[in-house]
Amino acid sequence: MVVVERDFVIDECSMEDLDRVIEINRLCLPENYPRYFFEDLLLRFPKAFLVARVDGEVVAYVMCRIELGFSDFSFMKIVKKGHIVSIAVLPEHRRKGIGTELMIKCMENMKKFYGAQEYYLEVRVTNVSAINLYKKLGFKVVRVLPRYYRDGCDAFQMAKKVDKNG
Ligand code: ACO
Ligand code: ZN
Repeated sequence: MVVVERDFVIDECSMEDLDRVIEINRLCLPENYPRYFFEDLLLRFPKAFLVARVDGEVVAYVMCRIELGFSDFSFMKIVKKGHIVSIAVLPEHRRKGIGTELMIKCMENMKKFYGAQEYYLEVRVTNVSAINLYKKLGFKVVRVLPRYYRDGCDAFQMAKKVDKNG
C-alpha cells in the first residue's frame, strides 16, 4: 500500500498571517486589495478565511464573504451565498491538492458556521487551472460577465449548490 503523506496543513488565518497572505495575493493575482479589505473579511468571516502551511510557513490562502442574494438555481429565491472572493497557492506549491483542500474546507465552514446555501465566484475565462479546479468540485458556469476585469478580460461566474457532501 502506498501512503501519500500530505506536507501541508489547513488552518484558520490569524491577524499575524495577514502580511504574508497579502504578499501571496500580490505574487499570484492581478486582483489586489488594500489591507483593510483583507482585515474586514478576516474579522467578519474568520471561519471562511483559511491558510495552508508547509513547515509552518503560509503558502496559500482562501478568503470568502457571506452575502444574501438571488439564487443561481431557484427562480426568484433569496438565499445565503458563500462568495469565494480570492484563492491563491504559491507557484512552487501548486498541483499538490492544496487548492482543492482550501476550497473544500472553506465551503464546509461557510455551510456549518454561516448557513451558506450556495457558493459562487468569478474567474477569468482564460484561467484554465482555476476553472478546472472549480469544475472538479461541482461548480458550473452560470453567466459570463463581459469586461469584468480592469484589463478588459471577461469573467465566468461559477456557482454550486450546497449538497450532502458540502
Ligand atoms: N492546468 C490544468 N488544470 C489544473 C492546473 C493546471 N496548471 N492546476 C490545477 N488544475 C486543476 C486540475 O484539475 C487539478 O486536479 P489534478 O491535479 O488532479 O489534475 C485541480 O485543479 C486541483 O488542483 P490543486 O492541486 O488542488 O490546485 P492548486 O493547489 O494547484 O491550486 C489554483 C489551484 C488556486 C488555481 C492555483 O493554480 C493558483 O494559485 N493560481 C493562481 C491564482 C489564481 O488563479 N487563483 C484563482 C483566481 S479566481 C478566484 O480567486 C475566485
Ligand atoms: Zn467575487
